[in-house]
Amino acid sequence: MRIGVLTGGGDCPGLNAVIRAVVRKGVATYDHEFVGFRDGWRGPLEGLTKPLGIPEVRGILPRGGTILGSSRTNPFKIEGGVEQIKNNLAAQGVDALVAIGGEDTLGVATKLHELGVQVVGVPKTIDNDLGATDYTFGFDTAVNIAMEAIDRLHTTAESHHRTLVVEVMGRHAGWIALHAGLAGGANVILLPERQFDVDQVATYVEKRFQKQYAPIVVVAEGAQPLDGQMVLHNQELDAFGHVRLGGIGQWLAEQLEAKTGKEARTVVLGHIQRGGTPTAFDRVLATRLGLQAIDAVNEGDWGKMVAMQGTDIVRVPLAEATRELKTVPLERYTEAEVFFGS
Ligand code: F6P
Repeated sequence: MRIGVLTGGGDCPGLNAVIRAVVRKGVATYDHEFVGFRDGWRGPLEGLTKPLGIPEVRGILPRGGTILGSSRTNPFKIEGGVEQIKNNLAAQGVDALVAIGGEDTLGVATKLHELGVQVVGVPKTIDNDLGATDYTFGFDTAVNIAMEAIDRLHTTAESHHRTLVVEVMGRHAGWIALHAGLAGGANVILLPERQFDVDQVATYVEKRFQKQYAPIVVVAEGAQPLDGQMVLHNQELDAFGHVRLGGIGQWLAEQLEAKTGKEARTVVLGHIQRGGTPTAFDRVLATRLGLQAIDAVNEGDWGKMVAMQGTDIVRVPLAEATRELKTVPLERYTEAEVFFGS
């Protein structure tokens, strides 16, 4: 078979490890051929390709980002987009696609599968918010980066007796905030899953100062105050209808400073959380998902997504992955609350 590979949506550490595993096993075990599509769905849409063989995947296991490039292109928003994709796949002699992506990329893969395209999906996102898989690669790396930042922020916050508000990514799921906050010993953790009372946060902060320690507040970019609107930089939507989040950290620091009378500053970790080399956990997960994906392709098991359930790598219908966002359950938040303000 000749198989096309693409990576779509926000990049994350581990994408290259998947590409490497797919190509290495695909060539060595099954004698398949590969072609890389550039920049997510823009590749098959515009016929943008890149050679993808064993030489191209040598040395990429530890590399962050994606050697194929990525984009948030939505072919269903483009007139004649699906036909264009089908024509380009035929022109390239491509029999099947491995689509590596999150909610949006896999949503497109699901629809294309229903329209007859032979596709297998691989879940990725630092947000860890995809259904049907216990973990997505990229998440562990993002959490470790955020944890290390929080560790460093503790020492400088203590020196200056100030509150440090750390805004982390995660979109509408609080997984990064919860795990980084727990691992980094944050004083308060605020998630999109539960609106927060800014007066209560100020009380936690004051309690921490009374104990002669400076508070670290971890806030997810999608968190919202009780009676307010989500704080956004702008209202612009991407091709999948997502608004760009960010700004809650700055808003919160201003509120805390006014309410506690103690200086409060904000650190927005932003894309640092998505950059650089993947952790060992993410490299192993990405590799195992890639190996299972090429097995699925080889067996013609179309319309499936490979997933991690427990410690096993399994296959589930693509549609299951995108049916519903996997958000943080209340009991996980309650678990963390015992540390707030103490
Ligand atoms: O979905 C991954 C993610 O990093 C989110 O956590 C974040 O909201 C978004 O992507 C940022 O996207 P962009 O890189 O397009 O600004």
